[in-house]
Amino acid sequence: MNEQHEGLTRRQVLTGVGGLAAGLAIGGLGVPSAMASAGQDAIWPMPYVKLDPEEVRKLGHRGYYEGECCRGAFSAIVGSLQRKVGAPFTGIPINIMAYGTAGVAGWCTLCGALNGACAAISLVSENYKAIANELLQWYVQAPFPSEKANALAVNHQYLVDKYKSDKALPSSVPGSPLCHINVSRWCKEHGYASGSSERSERCARISGDVAAYAVELLNMDMDGKFTAMHKPSAEVEGCRVCHRKGKDFEAGNWTRGKMECGDCHDEATVKLVGPDHP
Ligand code: HEC
Ligand code: HEC
Repeated sequence: MNEQHEGLTRRQVLTGVGGLAAGLAIGGLGVPSAMASAGQDAIWPMPYVKLDPEEVRKLGHRGYYEGECCRGAFSAIVGSLQRKVGAPFTGIPINIMAYGTAGVAGWCTLCGALNGACAAISLVSENYKAIANELLQWYVQAPFPSEKANALAVNHQYLVDKYKSDKALPSSVPGSPLCHINVSRWCKEHGYASGSSERSERCARISGDVAAYAVELLNMDMDGKFTAMHKPSAEVEGCRVCHRKGKDFEAGNWTRGKMECGDCHDEATVKLVGPDHP
């Protein structure tokens, strides 16, 4: 797909040959004809340039203050590319990711910071699947907020004037890419209500931390040096021997996924796992 677009000049892009990106670039006037047939994409991947993860960490935090987690993480990366590269990034409305707030409109499914960062990854790298996978695998095992994030808040080095909280917040490892599990665990563990400014501040710091790691991965990818560094837990690997995407229904292939099975299934308490389980 890339080769098809190499021949496009900037002028052709701006005059509409580039499909969606060009349509957006001229202010979303009308639907570009290329959109009519599925598969005729705009310029993709868009031209990433290396970003500074520490700058992006601060932008993700401020982005949360401006438009919460999903839009915040997306704006840290794509907003930076808009400033550094210009078109075609300037044709993308940052608000495209506004829906993702609190795991999509408060449903607390996929963490919005992950959702926004993955959208940015998918915009600029053909390697999006492997990079997104590494981002999620890292996230479920990482303590949030990170030490770097706490230090930025305590030293007032974020890009906001008035802090929701400038304390070093206690950390918890999410164990799950789900907003619901991450937020509920942290709130219960440390005694904060889900509507507290501390919970909100932690999510702002997470938005920065996630955007920063996404940029680290994209920078490696740009050098052709991306490798996955985080592995699923032994428990998940154990269950996935039988319960994974596959064709053998009898063996357990009627389900799929990579989340921690034990968060919701538990043989000891027979939670969603029957006593006759093999
Ligand atoms: C966030 C919670 C959650 C996580 C994490 C999760 N599951 Fe589930 N799973 C469910 C729920 C809820 C159902 C639906 C149960 C039902 O309706 O019977 C389900 C259904 C299943 C079923 C089918 C149940 C049946 O009755 O046949 C299997 C098998 C299963 N999950 C395995 C896994 C495995 C293996 C993992 C880890 C890779 C996993 N699940 C992770 C919540 C979860
Ligand atoms: C050796 C293969 C195998 C492994 C490993 C395995 N399962 Fe299963 N699992 C099955 C099969 C086969 C069934 C269907 C059993 C049945 O229908 O009686 C099943 C059924 C289930 C069900 C449906 C409810 C039930 O009890 O029948 C759940 C939930 C489930 N497994 C979760 C898990 C989780 C969580 C793990 C990891 C801790 C796991 N399984 C590991 C093969 C496996």
